[in-house]
Amino acid sequence: MNIRVFDNEAQAGQAAALVIAAQIVKKPDSVIGLATGGTPVLTYQDLARLTKSGILDWDRVTTFNLDEYLGLAGDHEQSFRAFMVKNLFSKVNIKPDAIHIPDGLAKDPEAESLAYERSINTRGGIDLQLLGLGRTGHIGFNEPDSLFSTRTHVVDLTADTISANARFFANPSDVPRQAMTMGIGTIMQAREILMLVTGAEKARAVRGMVCNPVDPQCPGSVLQLHANVTVFLDRPAATAMYHCQ
Ligand code: GLP
Repeated sequence: MNIRVFDNEAQAGQAAALVIAAQIVKKPDSVIGLATGGTPVLTYQDLARLTKSGILDWDRVTTFNLDEYLGLAGDHEQSFRAFMVKNLFSKVNIKPDAIHIPDGLAKDPEAESLAYERSINTRGGIDLQLLGLGRTGHIGFNEPDSLFSTRTHVVDLTADTISANARFFANPSDVPRQAMTMGIGTIMQAREILMLVTGAEKARAVRGMVCNPVDPQCPGSVLQLHANVTVFLDRPAATAMYHCQ
């Protein structure tokens, strides 16, 4: 695990954008895994800026998002698809059919999950996966105690994740209780992983991820077993990891 601590959230977010940009420049037909949540917003702003200034071309890029709420249509304001359109896809020249996000309204979520996995494999797997870290240590929506071998599947969200994500909804009771997420096995198959974590409320999860042995109670800790992981932190997120004993 290659860990870098930046002075602030903006610097960490910009650095993450540069890693993604470099991947696209190096391999114009890259398959990029993307994340939602508050953390990557600055990264997406920067990617949009680099694209506008002519540095980045998304014409041959394919993307797969980590997850989507079950029960929300793609055009629902709080769906992860709507988030991605607003923050990135409407600002770059990616082809609509190169965008992949699980369908939150799929009639058969199990079949949708299998099809999502097949789609990733058909496109040769993910070159670079961007990840955030939940307060519970979750990656994607793989909550504590998830099996490390899981592929894309339906999950029940924990009370902590529901309360963390309630800030995006008018009413906390509107937060969906289930989601479809790439599994830990899917994430670990990416050739390279870039994790971005900012804010003091993530310090405990960061500590669990980097200081403690690999443990399903902190799903992010599985990244210790991946050969090509970079973690970008801001100072507040890094505070608890300096005392690993
Ligand atoms: C969300 C998403 C994750 C994200 C994490 C952190 O619920 N499913 O992919 O990385 O939780 O979110 P945030 O960046 O808003 O803290």
